[in-house]
Amino acid sequence: MLLIDLLPPDWQKSLYFGQQDGKAALSLAHKNLNNQLRKLWAPDSMPAMASLAPELLASLKTAREELLAEDWQDAETGVYPKSLLFEDDWLRWAQTYPQLWLDQVAVWERMAAKDYRSFAPEIDVQSYPDYYRQNFHYQTDGYLGETSATLYDLQVELLFNGTAEAMRRRLLKPLKTALADKKTPRLLDVACGGGVTLKHLARTFPQASLAGLDLSPAYLDYARRRLEEGGVTAPQLFQGNAEELPFRDDWFDGITCVYLFHELPPQPRQRVLEECYRALKPGGVLVILDSIQLKDRPDWAPMLENFPRLFHEPYYRNYTEDDFLARLEKAGFSQIQERRHCFSKSWTALKPN
Ligand SMILES: C[S@@+](CC[C@H](N)C(=O)[O-])C[C@H]1O[C@@H](n2cnc3c(N)ncnc32)[C@H](O)[C@@H]1O
Repeated sequence: MLLIDLLPPDWQKSLYFGQQDGKAALSLAHKNLNNQLRKLWAPDSMPAMASLAPELLASLKTAREELLAEDWQDAETGVYPKSLLFEDDWLRWAQTYPQLWLDQVAVWERMAAKDYRSFAPEIDVQSYPDYYRQNFHYQTDGYLGETSATLYDLQVELLFNGTAEAMRRRLLKPLKTALADKKTPRLLDVACGGGVTLKHLARTFPQASLAGLDLSPAYLDYARRRLEEGGVTAPQLFQGNAEELPFRDDWFDGITCVYLFHELPPQPRQRVLEECYRALKPGGVLVILDSIQLKDRPDWAPMLENFPRLFHEPYYRNYTEDDFLARLEKAGFSQIQERRHCFSKSWTALKPN
């Protein structure tokens, strides 16, 4: 139990929304400073961007409010403990923030040079798929370095103005509903990165047996340390490719996958879905959370176009137009549901009995 659990509910609510406003203010201040410094230091790194109309900005605000209201509501109705809303890594982020600036100049320089295949010589990239051997977001050493692993979660929070964890939590309700009759579910988070979703799963399903898989040894190391420090009982972490899950058929009750698919080319996308299907038990559930697509918010098209220009995201445009309903059905899934959550969306899909 955290101190927060002892406070009256209306205090908790004020604290939650206050915390979110604080995160938004800090993120916007950071982005502003970043733009100013970048214009001075690396003016060539700024790509041409579509401007965002006032109506679009107003609709972002509404979508954020809806997201946060749902996040609070799900905590209040017991989908997950309220304390989870206050488990942000403030201290870690404060410690990491100077490192983010130290790395920023190298990122701008890669952006200006459109250099997205740059890895430290000691990193052996040969054993990874070609699509993975890139500096996604122009980040240092792509997903294969310690700096990138340390900075990633903070960068995602800043990108989404402090709503990244709230968006990731949207997969918990459909998962909990689908697993209502399972006392000790077996759960896998595919592409677990630094372990945020594993933490959410551990808090929501304290009896679950948890596993995470990622291609990046550096991100897995980071996840292991952070989960241990957060008191999350050791999930099993596996280094591997989601296209070839190292698990037997019909093993998991639930599989989650967050922000992976927009970073995969079309064929690996399909293979990952097929592997998730294979590794799920009959009746098992897959919950995907990823970026919204064009069809979800045609009015946000300028923003969806800007994103891959600003960050190196080579498969994003294709992803935003991809037909996941058809992909999931092709893999064998049924009862597929899609929902929007601010900048993200989720698909819930069942493996038939
Ligand atoms: C955008 S990050 C998302 C990480 C995490 N799920 C989150 O919510 O922050 C994408 C992650 O997918 C991993 N990844 C990319 N391709 C993969 C693959 N084929 N198999 C396993 N992991 C992969 C990367 O190493 C990285 O950790």
